[in-house]
Amino acid sequence: MKKVQLTETVLRDAQQSLMATRLPYSDYEGILSDMDKAGYYSVECWGGATFDSCLRYLGEDPWERLRNLRKNLPNTRLQMLLRGQNLLGYKHYHDDVVEKFIELSIKNGIDVIRIFDALNDFRNIETALNATMKYANEKTIASGCISYTQSPVHTVEKYIEMCRELKNMGFQTICLKDMAGTMSPYEAEHLIKGIKDAIGDMTLILHTHCTTGMAYMTLTKAIESGIDVIDCATSCFSGGTSQPSTETMFYALQQYGIDSGLNEEIINKVNDFFKPVKQKYIDNGQLNPKSLGTDAQALVYKVPGGMLSNMIANLTDMHAMDKFEDALAEIPKVRADMGYPPLVTPLSQMVGNQAVTNVLIGERYKNISKEIKNYIKGEYGIAPAPINPELIEKVLGADGKAVDCRIEDQKRTGEDFTAAKNALGDLCRSEEDIMSYICYPDQTLKFLKDRKAKEENEAVYTITEM
Ligand code: CO
Repeated sequence: MKKVQLTETVLRDAQQSLMATRLPYSDYEGILSDMDKAGYYSVECWGGATFDSCLRYLGEDPWERLRNLRKNLPNTRLQMLLRGQNLLGYKHYHDDVVEKFIELSIKNGIDVIRIFDALNDFRNIETALNATMKYANEKTIASGCISYTQSPVHTVEKYIEMCRELKNMGFQTICLKDMAGTMSPYEAEHLIKGIKDAIGDMTLILHTHCTTGMAYMTLTKAIESGIDVIDCATSCFSGGTSQPSTETMFYALQQYGIDSGLNEEIINKVNDFFKPVKQKYIDNGQLNPKSLGTDAQALVYKVPGGMLSNMIANLTDMHAMDKFEDALAEIPKVRADMGYPPLVTPLSQMVGNQAVTNVLIGERYKNISKEIKNYIKGEYGIAPAPINPELIEKVLGADGKAVDCRIEDQKRTGEDFTAAKNALGDLCRSEEDIMSYICYPDQTLKFLKDRKAKEENEAVYTITEM
């Protein structure tokens, strides 16, 4: 019997897309032992924005969350999303930091590490891949991930070539990541058939979002074209900016005569569990019902929904909403000048802001942001297509040259760890604390101070009780 398996995303991407990653561990601990019996391919539960959110908003130790997930999901593959050399932050970390982060992720319970780079510059995912293989146990899977976008240079052939490269690099599975939800059923069919032909029986995964309303049709075509795994979210946390629904896809696959391996009773129980959780966040305003709707604008302008809402917010702040249409029309021009980067964090913000600046000043690139300058210098990696030479000259001068190696090639040994240890002093208890500090110094310092204060209070309380 043909098989298509499902990854459940409610604990990571679904809650990140719908409610800004504010779901605390305590809200879902009660359903984990059931989820462990559901028969998912994997549960995406860590990485992405969860790490930052734990420290910044939820007062949770992200590593402790991971250990608890491991304890309560002993038979399930635990999956994380990792931004290659950026780990879970927004800058490029040194190789020794990337290695240690992966060692600790596996040690604390992660099985599947899905690794991507915003520009699909695979030099930026190589260190993470090598570290995953170095610290792998029998359950570890290194999954190479492609940021999907549409442009004149992002052809089916180009994507097939990227998949071949990921396979040659040593990744065990490949994921197509359509973060904006703009992949059409037609494109899915051509891509997946082509890729499957090129990579043979290697597992191929499709990750998409319902944002534009395309996802269910796209998944249907993906299934007919030979996809192995699809990402879905329990139905009450599905749709809108999140993934398609787990139960819906379960029933659809059943009709196809395709085995999903899911336990019907349990996936329904999981959904029943999350219904009141969702209601709680709708009631307190953290889950905006707007994010549950369909917004096809991204298909017209080829920009992700989140980028549009950002632009509207910025222009409103500057009382310049009359420039919205112009700014929108400017985005494809800036993106083309930059060599068609996929519009995913942080590039979506960089391109959007530059387009707004160009339109507000009334002259293209009179003012160039620091981030775009660094991008032109090559600090983010290689652009998918050549950058406009005029733009290069503006930033680097007539005979300026971009960086042609990864910036981490200027290798360091241990300096980040020593600096973190010194900064934390007696607040530091573990390698995990040090790693949290390297990734998010301010948030971690505050979190560790709060942890210490809480423990001291508890100690005083225990003594008085006695
Ligand atoms: Co996503």
